[in-house]
Amino acid sequence: MQNTFTCPPNRGSEWKHESPDFSRGESQRTIGDRSLQVSKRADAWEGTVALSQRSWDVRDYREGDEISILKLFRKVFGQHRSLEHWRWKFEQNPAGRQITVAVTREGAVIGHFAGLPVVATTPVKSFVMTQGIDHMVDPEWQRLGIYREMAQSYFRTYVWNRVAAAWYAFPDQPVYEIEAKAFGPSSLHPVPLLNCDLSESESWSRSSHDLQLCRIDNVERIDKSLDELWNLCRSELALATKRDSRYLNWRYADRPDIKYRFLVARSRSSGRPLGLAVLRFGWFDQPVAPLVDWLVPSNERDVARALIASCHSLASERKLKAMQASFPTYSPQYRFLVSVGYQPIASRCLITAHWPEDSELVKPMKENWYYTMGDSDMY
Ligand SMILES: CC(C)(COP(=O)(O)OP(=O)(O)OC[C@H]1O[C@@H](n2cnc3c(N)ncnc32)[C@H](O)[C@@H]1OP(=O)(O)O)[C@@H](O)C(=O)NCCC(=O)NCCS
Repeated sequence: MQNTFTCPPNRGSEWKHESPDFSRGESQRTIGDRSLQVSKRADAWEGTVALSQRSWDVRDYREGDEISILKLFRKVFGQHRSLEHWRWKFEQNPAGRQITVAVTREGAVIGHFAGLPVVATTPVKSFVMTQGIDHMVDPEWQRLGIYREMAQSYFRTYVWNRVAAAWYAFPDQPVYEIEAKAFGPSSLHPVPLLNCDLSESESWSRSSHDLQLCRIDNVERIDKSLDELWNLCRSELALATKRDSRYLNWRYADRPDIKYRFLVARSRSSGRPLGLAVLRFGWFDQPVAPLVDWLVPSNERDVARALIASCHSLASERKLKAMQASFPTYSPQYRFLVSVGYQPIASRCLITAHWPEDSELVKPMKENWYYTMGDSDMY
């Protein structure tokens, strides 16, 4: 299984899909049993094929498309995605829905280019940022410029007009190369992947002081008292997804197909939330526990140690071999995990980004954007 944030693993054989060479002038192609003849001039790659010459169009999502979208998902990625998952992700997202599709004249969805928006904040301002997800074109319709045209339409509708102040994705290198040809995003940096082998004894010990200070609650859903913790952390984060209780419950507790655990550190004396870790047990076929989210003020080192120790205990109880996490290398969270024995391992993912002209987020995204595994829909 590949370790990539953006697309489901096991992409199947689409990379081996043989596509005709349209690089030289006029040609014709029969697609599937539709006997569709596509006039293909060199300039078709620029997205200038006249609509009358082709059998597909690009438009925004319409109610009911989801049935055809899920069929396409299965065909392209070889994986079943439930309607329940789709509704959670695209209908119940508190930050909205962004879906561009390509359809045949008969109305079947043959291409999909979605964004998963989130509200993001700096210490003083809120924005919408959006994650590129589920980019797919039916194998029988690939290499006709559909992806590029969906991207143009998507960015026109959701990014260039500043609905979102930034777009980002977590592709692996081969996917990035196609993105680069189709719409030219910037590559920011490789996504760091930290690993802690749970079979090795911890190089740091859990002091009784850590545990006297706070208790750790292990819950499936968080309450509004966690907003206080978010407000405390927000002032330290130059740019981050707004991790309030509404977002966190939607992202983790409401997701129908995966059970996450919230570990909440609370003051023993006041019950005040001091820190939060969110864990997933297993990732596809890998016996690892991804630390998908983390909110601990940087001066609360004892709380961080108590939380991470509880994460290790829970993962070990479930016989998982390692904990894994992704934080940017410039973040105190990355340095903290390294200080307690986590080691960087090879990651295949990059972060790519695209902004409206003069977006205020270019610099913070490049220099101090706080993200975790949970900022990718792959986790
Ligand atoms: C990636 C994908 C969406 C591309 O769709 P598409 O409609 O065939 O792409 P387009 O025809 O618009 O091509 C856009 C550019 O990418 C290039 N490209 C497309 N597929 C490519 C491939 N497999 N390898 C190399 N380049 C490719 C095209 O040549 C074109 O560039 P050019 O004009 O400079 O030649 C499609 O192959 C797909 O669905 N793949 C499986 C799912 C997947 O991996 N999705 C991406 C991550 S979620």
